[in-house]
Amino acid sequence: MTTTTQLPAILGGEQAVTLDQTEAIRWPLIDSQDEQAVLDVLRSGNLSLHPIVEELENKYKERTQRQFALTHNNGTSAILAGLHAIGVQPFDEVIVPSATWWSSVMPVLHCGGVPVFAELEPECLGLDPEDVERKITEKTKAIVVVHLFGMPSKMDELTSIAKKHNLKILEDASHAHGAMYKGKPIGSFGDVSVFSMQGNKLCPSGEGGILLCDDQEVWESAVRLGHYERLLNLESNNKYFAATGFGFKFRMAPMAAALAVSQVARMDERNTKRNENCIYLSNKLEALGIETFLAPKDVTRVYFEFLVRYDESITGLPINDLAKALQAEGAHVAAPRYPLLHQQPVFTHNVWSKIARLPATEDNPIHLYDPTDLPNTTLGNGSLLKLPAFPSANSDLLDQYSNAFEKVLAHSNDIPRTDKAESSA
Ligand SMILES: Cc1ncc(COP(=O)(O)O)c(C=O)c1O
Repeated sequence: MTTTTQLPAILGGEQAVTLDQTEAIRWPLIDSQDEQAVLDVLRSGNLSLHPIVEELENKYKERTQRQFALTHNNGTSAILAGLHAIGVQPFDEVIVPSATWWSSVMPVLHCGGVPVFAELEPECLGLDPEDVERKITEKTKAIVVVHLFGMPSKMDELTSIAKKHNLKILEDASHAHGAMYKGKPIGSFGDVSVFSMQGNKLCPSGEGGILLCDDQEVWESAVRLGHYERLLNLESNNKYFAATGFGFKFRMAPMAAALAVSQVARMDERNTKRNENCIYLSNKLEALGIETFLAPKDVTRVYFEFLVRYDESITGLPINDLAKALQAEGAHVAAPRYPLLHQQPVFTHNVWSKIARLPATEDNPIHLYDPTDLPNTTLGNGSLLKLPAFPSANSDLLDQYSNAFEKVLAHSNDIPRTDKAESSA
């Protein structure tokens, strides 16, 4: 006989997740050290220009083994500066993923570039190297690689494709602070690499971002675009642009930089705790048939977000009904995947070419976007469930999450199905 502890809560059983989760999933973690760091800048009176910004740049240069760093007011502006600095020009094609935050892609338009979407591969959720190669044309200039949710993309393959076709890589490492790929830090793979430090990120500054590279000209191009205040100190002719820059003001607020410096000092320790927790639960969920994106050998992923893949064809229980049943257990589980960019009105209704100011010409007819493109990405994206990344959880809570899955999956035939019309209303 099924007892109420074995029966899913959605069917009248007891909840599996009963522990208070507030502290276990709280992020960001702000303590007196952070408060002091910000107060020190505040009290210095140097609210706009302060050496703490350079300190943050030095820390990231060291961590990623790069020659140059340039902090930004957010990751989006760092990506725009990066694309500009690697020379993306009108009509250049840039290969990008569709399942990502829009900032990985939309800045391409402001360089006059044409985003060309490629499939994700299913193991690491990075760009699929084979599809990337298929999408290369004589107009391709660059690839935007995103390490989605903190899992490094297949950099060996992507780097060798870029070399073979003479393409630049912009590495969007916003989700992957502290990750490693075959002994090299994430953030060291792009001609330009960028981290966002927005408030949810693994090194949160509130709002902020950083651009990294090894080429002085690339760095100076980014300086010219958004950091007029640094131009006078350059030795090159770029110093003559100091009175105007190239039209943007992208510098990072020192109070935000102070928070990031304080946070990065604890980041490895905090990443380790997330990893221990997510890997512990992953091993339990794998035993239940849930795919959890454990890192391949030689790769250390981080858990900016903890997403798992559920194949509803195995149990017959639709993913949204699974999520509802898990929520009834008290688990924070949802299906908020990224809306696929190639299906958004800005692309399907040709708004993008107006943003990019690209007139249709005989040589360059308007690139049309088809929302039914990228079947693998669409299918894969629809099978993801998001769990908390458990920054401070202990194993009791993780065991309760695992019990919630076990209980619901054991009763998958009995879990109520949402009426399709209701779910799409
Ligand atoms: C993958 C990715 N790239 C870029 C960004 C942009 O960063 P920001 O929000 O700091 O502008 C974000 C998110 O915030 C992101 O998730």
